[in-house]
Amino acid sequence: MELSGRLSGLPSYPFPRLRELLDGITAENHTIDLSIGEPRQPVPDWVGPTLNAVLQTFGSYPPNEGTIELRRVIASWLGRRYGVNKIDPETQILPLNGSREGLFNASLALCPEQKEGKSPYVLIPNPFYPPYAAGAALAGAIPYFVSADRDAGYLPNYAALPKEVLARTALVYLCSPANPQGSVAPMAYLQELLQLAERYGFRILADECYADIYRYDPPPGMLEAVEKTQSDPETAAIFHSLSKRSGLPGLRSGFVASGPQAIAAMKKLKSFGGAPIPTPLLSVSTKAWVDQDHVEMNRQAYCSKYQIADEVLGGCQGYTSPEAGLFLWMNVGNGEETTLRLWRQAGLRVVPGEYLGRVVDDHNPGSEYIRVALVANDHELRAGLERLHACL
Ligand SMILES: Cc1ncc(COP(=O)(O)O)c(C=O)c1O
Repeated sequence: MELSGRLSGLPSYPFPRLRELLDGITAENHTIDLSIGEPRQPVPDWVGPTLNAVLQTFGSYPPNEGTIELRRVIASWLGRRYGVNKIDPETQILPLNGSREGLFNASLALCPEQKEGKSPYVLIPNPFYPPYAAGAALAGAIPYFVSADRDAGYLPNYAALPKEVLARTALVYLCSPANPQGSVAPMAYLQELLQLAERYGFRILADECYADIYRYDPPPGMLEAVEKTQSDPETAAIFHSLSKRSGLPGLRSGFVASGPQAIAAMKKLKSFGGAPIPTPLLSVSTKAWVDQDHVEMNRQAYCSKYQIADEVLGGCQGYTSPEAGLFLWMNVGNGEETTLRLWRQAGLRVVPGEYLGRVVDDHNPGSEYIRVALVANDHELRAGLERLHACL
């Protein structure tokens, strides 16, 4: 029987591809997994008691749009984090079952069928977080990949695209801090992109889920840029998550904030096909957006990991110290070959950069790279990076 061509036309997700590459090959050392960006810090100690106090609420269906308490604390957090105080928690925030759900569904909810009388483009940085392209393709749009390689400062130069492409663009994904490159879009970049969006009538989907994992200064956010440029709030939707900020990927909790029309459309889509956050987890999420202590501890833990990476790999060819986020993005010449060698000779599991990028004009901007997740504890991370250094 026939299946969806749009779905079967998608490449495999990077992790099954990695398993295909490495399964069946015996590693010579005890293994260290630095492939998945899954935080491994202890769960904050207030999570258990908070959950325990509301266990009864497992007995009812959760509200599609979360609780107003949660939306209010998110609006307050946006005020503290970005100095943005105009977001209405009634109409401009939608809690998500992790930001992946929202980033994928945003294309379905917000992409028009046509732009300039043709199938619209969805601009995507290359390399990228895979749900962006999957969402665009399943929405019937055309994913248009824009290189975010070293020459571009690891940020896509959307402003340099031909006018015809920009005119046909309906949505633009941006990831800052970026997975996998660890680059941060400065405020001037965000403002320029907003101006471009207003000129060409497209919407920006700003993935900011690494916003609280940084080294020195907090990365600026798209909502700040919206306020500074007094842009229409419908022009951008921003996505945040407790997976990285709070080290709680298993909670499946994030949110999107945008203009009331975009949020109403995403809410409508979610009411048909989305999974609301279970009510007890809404209570844990509420506490997580209020408490800043665990976030600062979490951030310090990553600063220590950046430091270890600098100590072990500083001076190593192809190493760049990341500004923010969870990953090292290292140019090793041939990413897939190096991934195989690291596994075979050193028991180290990383991701070939090629799996996170797409070929455009015969070139995949990830193919020379590996992505290394800074997620192990300090001792294991140092051991892993020393093996990496020795192997390279
Ligand atoms: C760039 C990026 N965006 C979004 C997500 C989704 O995170 P979650 O669904 O856990 O909020 C991830 C997860 O790894 C990511 O790397």
